[in-house]
Amino acid sequence: MLVLGIESSCDETAVALVRSDRSIAAQRIASQDEAHRPFGGVVPELAARAHVDRLTPMVAAVLAEAGMTLDDVDAVAATAGPGLIGGVMVGLVTGKALAFAAGKPLLAINHLEGHALSPRLADASLQFPYLLLLVSGGHCQLLGVEGVGRYRRLATTIDDAIGEAFDKTAKVLGLGFPGGPAVERAAVRGNARRFALPRPLLGSAEPHFSFAGLKSAVLRQWQALPAPGDSERDDLAAAFQQAATDCLIDRTARALSVFPQATALVVAGGVASNQHIRAALAALAARHGTAFVAPPLWLCTDNAAMIAWAGVERLALPAAERAALGLVDGLDAPARPRWPLDPGAEPVRGAGVRA
Ligand code: KG4
Ligand code: ZN
Repeated sequence: MLVLGIESSCDETAVALVRSDRSIAAQRIASQDEAHRPFGGVVPELAARAHVDRLTPMVAAVLAEAGMTLDDVDAVAATAGPGLIGGVMVGLVTGKALAFAAGKPLLAINHLEGHALSPRLADASLQFPYLLLLVSGGHCQLLGVEGVGRYRRLATTIDDAIGEAFDKTAKVLGLGFPGGPAVERAAVRGNARRFALPRPLLGSAEPHFSFAGLKSAVLRQWQALPAPGDSERDDLAAAFQQAATDCLIDRTARALSVFPQATALVVAGGVASNQHIRAALAALAARHGTAFVAPPLWLCTDNAAMIAWAGVERLALPAAERAALGLVDGLDAPARPRWPLDPGAEPVRGAGVRA
């Protein structure tokens, strides 16, 4: 089986051809960092226009590189949300047009499901159920992954996503864009003990997250410095990264205790490429006697191979099960700016409207 995947929900334009044996026939990922850098963050309108310019030629290039045509593809999988709606529409409409032209099924994939299943693309031995820590620019969740299309949200953030906190910290410290990797590089040089920062929700009974207070504390400490220089910048980056890591570890430990059936602790999403966080999670899993799975770095940040792979996983389900789970799409599949993986999850007390 071969699936063409398309990803365009944020600032990466990506196309991939993935086989059910986990091999990648070809793939491309085009980052838009240069376009957004002058603004210090992703500008949705610029992102959508860049996806329009790049996507169709990228599909052609990926097919050409693999020596294939659309006739060789079993299905077209496109991200249908959640994300920046202009970009999601560009990718989904492109996917629909290709599926319609080639007479192949369209699979409207939840971007979060792409991240959630991506570790199984890299590691054939990873079985359900597993505990997933999904840490990205827009989300910070702990999910019990019970099977394809079966996700139980155990925790979410009551305010900011952790990636957002990394990005804001980078902005405050003048570390540039994209923020997460810049904070990590500065933190390697810094002394995490020089500044005392809060660890929101540490020790609380439910495994939810909060990062707004930590982010504001970074701003206050930075503004209080009379003449901040490189060493203060590095030290505050290190203190922030350590505080954020402590929160992740404490909350994930709590989730491991409420989801004891997990066969592994798995991390995915852009923030999962942070080496300090990966090492701390590996140590936590070792303490719990649980396997730890972290996908290769390129698979943590946005890409289309994970979207194609979610399509492969979906097609591998028996048709009746796929239908029962609502995983069959028509060409009228909607683009969704918000799309929780576990629609039944209760809103968290104290949280805003974010899913
Ligand atoms: O999954 P992703 O590529 O896009 C979303 O779906 O959000 O995640 C992007 C987020 C950004 O907030 C970025 O700053 C963060 O992941 N990130 C990192 C690192 N690399 C990317 N955060 C911390 N350390 C990193 N090395
Ligand atoms: Zn993502």
